[in-house]
Amino acid sequence: MTEELIRVHTRGRVGVITLDRPRQLNALNDALMDQLGAALLAFDADAGIGAIVIAGSAKAFAAGADIEAMAGWSFMDVYQGGFITRNWETIRRVRKPVLAAVAGYAMGGGCELALACDVIVAAESAKFALPEVKLAMLPGAGGTQRLPRAIGKAKAMDMCLSGRMLDAGEADRYGLVSRVVPDAELMDSALALAEQIAAFSLPALMAIKAAVNRAWESPLSEGILFERHALYERFASADAHEGMHAFLGKRAPDFHHR
Ligand code: CAA
Repeated sequence: MTEELIRVHTRGRVGVITLDRPRQLNALNDALMDQLGAALLAFDADAGIGAIVIAGSAKAFAAGADIEAMAGWSFMDVYQGGFITRNWETIRRVRKPVLAAVAGYAMGGGCELALACDVIVAAESAKFALPEVKLAMLPGAGGTQRLPRAIGKAKAMDMCLSGRMLDAGEADRYGLVSRVVPDAELMDSALALAEQIAAFSLPALMAIKAAVNRAWESPLSEGILFERHALYERFASADAHEGMHAFLGKRAPDFHHR
């Protein structure tokens, strides 16, 4: 029987995925990443879902890739086997907003998983580090690329080369996280934010996510062009007309996500 390493539920238009490998502090092994990827794609395909939250435990969002599993692997095991590529990057295929609700350790691959999300809501206990250098490894699930884009080269180099751990306050000041909230309020805050987002028009959310991501991946002129077409496409959306007419009519919009 397959061990369940995540828990999945929905709340209204929000899909919630909780990493559930507590004895290993949610260390990310293949089985967990397969289950996470499948749950993300299922929510992405579900018309009743507008936003997704990934959470961990109070002690750890995730303590990184599973070191016990990796310790026995050879170069060809990971090269031919497509380690990371085979199941960690599924999250890049998700077109709906994904929020990370982070308490405790977000280390190595756990920090990289949070960085791959669109919004990070951090509890005051959250701790972020890319400590792979201590293992003579390197952050290999996007950390060397997403962290400098998020917080700049100086801070990212410091974290990657020294393994320095940031507390939630530092992560907030550096722009690594979106918001910091008290631990007791983490899930309520993350879910309230996700519900607020999910109530907006889904095609608008998907277009906004794609456009903001394009800012990371293209020169400014190409990004502006992408944004302009995304704006033009809004005028083909019934929801956009509803949103503008609702504003003019001083009433709440009634979005149908089309
Ligand atoms: N992989 C496998 N097991 C892990 C793990 C990991 N990344 N992190 C923690 N665990 C296990 C521990 O081995 C321990 O298991 P046992 O009880 O069987 O001994 C259990 O989880 C609890 O951990 P600790 O006893 O170490 O708990 P702690 O509270 O003393 O320390 C911690 C917590 C600081 C997070 C510490 O566990 C730690 O440093 N973990 C490793 C963090 C790390 O190096 N992450 C990077 C991994 S490499 C990577 O992610 C590569 C990549 O880019 C893809």
